Amino acid sequence: MKEIMLGITGSIAAYKAADIANQLTKSKVLVHTIMTVSGAKFITPLTLQTLTKNKVYTDMFEEIFYPDVRHISLAQKADCCVIAPATANIIGKLASGIADDMLSTVVMAVRNKPVIICPAMNTAMYENPITQNNIEKLKSYGYLFVEPKEALLACGDLGKGALADVETIVSYIKKILQIE
Ligand SMILES: Cc1cc2nc3c(=O)[nH]c(=O)nc-3n(C[C@H](O)[C@H](O)[C@H](O)COP(=O)(O)O)c2cc1C
Repeated sequence: MKEIMLGITGSIAAYKAADIANQLTKSKVLVHTIMTVSGAKFITPLTLQTLTKNKVYTDMFEEIFYPDVRHISLAQKADCCVIAPATANIIGKLASGIADDMLSTVVMAVRNKPVIICPAMNTAMYENPITQNNIEKLKSYGYLFVEPKEALLACGDLGKGALADVETIVSYIKKILQIE
């Protein structure tokens, strides 16, 4: 069975991650979800837990006994990591080597596995040269990106920054996992 780590961050597009998790679970992929504190304000861990039939991680210091160190074991056992939606913030943190929550720490502990980042943000945030530099830097290290699309955004702006279609993201992940 293939396993992925699905990171969900604080974007209005977070509700779409439920559909991604649902489709992958139905395709027999075991999904380990990690939500940032902001991500969990947009969609509940219970939704992801129910759809994936698996525990959802939000707190790195949760006092539950595991025989392993979770942030390392999740990074090691997943066949790939996906962050969908990925905020400007998580992209900036990864590009800067910051590991101050469960998601950024797990992604930093990934070695020799694909990390797929699906940005979603306001057009000005996406086109901000800092964000663009961060994306280029991460690409240079081998991180993969599923480009956001141009759309009428939740904030009312028309431009690039909307999360790529769920179908596009799911088929990209399946291609990486070599299923179907
Ligand atoms: C209603 C609302 C929608 C937001 N949507 C986005 C978004 O789509 N993309 C983004 O980068 N930030 C968005 N933000 C801001 C992030 O939630 C904020 O930068 C947060 O610190 C991100 O934390 P995280 O990356 O740890 O999840 C939004 C904030 C609010 C209140």
